[in-house]
Amino acid sequence: MEQYLELSGISKAFPGVQALKDVGFRATGGKVLALLGENGAGKSTLLKILSGDIKPDEGKIVLNGRELSFRSPHDALKSGISVIYQERQLMSAMSVMENIFAGDIPVKNGIVDYKTLKRETKKIIDQFGLPIDPETPVMFLSIAHQQMVEIMKAYRRDSLVIAFDEPTAPLTDTEIEILFNLIRRLKEQGKIILYVSHRLKEIFEVTDEIVVLKDGRFVTHVNTAETNEQDLIKYMVGRDIGDTYANLSRNDKYGDVLLEVNNLTTYAVHDVSFSLRKGEVLGFAGLVGAGRTEVMRAIFGADPIISGEIKLEGKKVEFKTPKDAIDAGIALCPEDRKEQGLVLWRSIEDNIIMPFLDKVRKWPFLDFKKSERVTIEAIKKYDIKTPTIDKIVVELSGGNQQKVILGRWTSSLVNTKLLILDEPTKGIDVGTKAEIYQMVCDLAKEGLGVIFISSELTEVINVADRIIVMKDGTITGEVLREEATEEKVLALAMASN
Ligand SMILES: Nc1ncnc2c1ncn2[C@@H]1O[C@H](COP(=O)(O)OP(=O)(O)OP(=O)(O)O)[C@@H](O)[C@H]1O
Ligand SMILES: [Mg+2]
Repeated sequence: MEQYLELSGISKAFPGVQALKDVGFRATGGKVLALLGENGAGKSTLLKILSGDIKPDEGKIVLNGRELSFRSPHDALKSGISVIYQERQLMSAMSVMENIFAGDIPVKNGIVDYKTLKRETKKIIDQFGLPIDPETPVMFLSIAHQQMVEIMKAYRRDSLVIAFDEPTAPLTDTEIEILFNLIRRLKEQGKIILYVSHRLKEIFEVTDEIVVLKDGRFVTHVNTAETNEQDLIKYMVGRDIGDTYANLSRNDKYGDVLLEVNNLTTYAVHDVSFSLRKGEVLGFAGLVGAGRTEVMRAIFGADPIISGEIKLEGKKVEFKTPKDAIDAGIALCPEDRKEQGLVLWRSIEDNIIMPFLDKVRKWPFLDFKKSERVTIEAIKKYDIKTPTIDKIVVELSGGNQQKVILGRWTSSLVNTKLLILDEPTKGIDVGTKAEIYQMVCDLAKEGLGVIFISSELTEVINVADRIIVMKDGTITGEVLREEATEEKVLALAMASN
């Protein structure tokens, strides 16, 4: 019998937003089905309905002919549906094995059977080929490994339906390979797999079918083998965005040297030197862990410097804290927006003005008008999908949260001279990516120096004017955009020095 999951007429409204409207499609066993769509299209909401976390206003979920209705996430799990979320859902103080077996801990004579628990966990970890110890508390693992624990948890439950919401965002290339092999194995076992990702390359590599959503509505259902990137983008965005990189309008006039870094050494990087001119976009490429983020943290006053010097507009600077750096005109959009960027339980407005409260004050009060104006500007500039400016950030879709951070650091409240973007397009849809690239070029035209860190090679070599490549905490080379190829950059990123 063919296994299938059929959704029909699914609708869900949140205050001010119709997140899903009459969505339906069928996913079959032994296939991977991609859910694709712009930020805020409703992908995560659909998965949350499948996991029983939120109730649809209308619609039916049918699994192998049986209609399901969930009173809680527990019911969904019992029916054989596991969803692995964008946000991690682990009990961080508990061990890996307790998380993997949560709800099903083996018991012997009334007490936890640690021996069996450890043995069974070890078996799963070995199947994944990961260097993780079953007894480590999850909070001591890297974000990538936490994500893998989450996946092993679903795998252990042997669910018939497994849904992944942007699972590769925190993973390195090797880990992505491990995940894809696992997905292929689940496929062979006849599982029904749903896969959400903004990375089209992955969609072509690992999925069989694609469902596109736009503004909460179903657009199309196609076979992966019978479509191409250009068509998918058209379905998602509703228009042809053409060749993103060729269409960029770049800055071609550089000003004076803005930033000079000489022989910078910290606990994580060694003897790093480079400079950046006003109006220039400088890319930083390298494998995950190459030390790019650490260089930026040192420049930003977030990590102590052991030796070396930093000059801003020709003057030596020593920032004790990020606040000093911000006051001097440096802005850093960090890579992990949840850990370092946003206060999730506060509004969009609060998140945008928070670091600059002194500038939106009409003593002794807050200048509400100004604060509102700045926020609305950011919402317009980045097309942040939200019904109001006081929506709390945790209720925004992943990509829209990222846009709030960008909005904060480029608003008229800050006099940013140097903008450091660490993986700014992570979790952002193709249409918006193109807009962000253009925004980067526009800021350069305004005379800002921009540092653009990205692990997506195509992106960094096509957007930046010049690309610095790092490996193991040092710079291994530098290439100009005109002469940059993926092979060249990758060779430097993996160079054995
Ligand atoms: N708990 C909530 N409360 C209010 N609105 C919400 C909530 N969750 C989602 N929304 C809204 O529903 C819409 C769809 O969001 P969803 O998270 O499903 O998008 P997505 O397709 O996953 O986007 P992304 O690619 O950015 O992750 C968005 O406008 C979002 O702001
Ligand atoms: Mg989402």
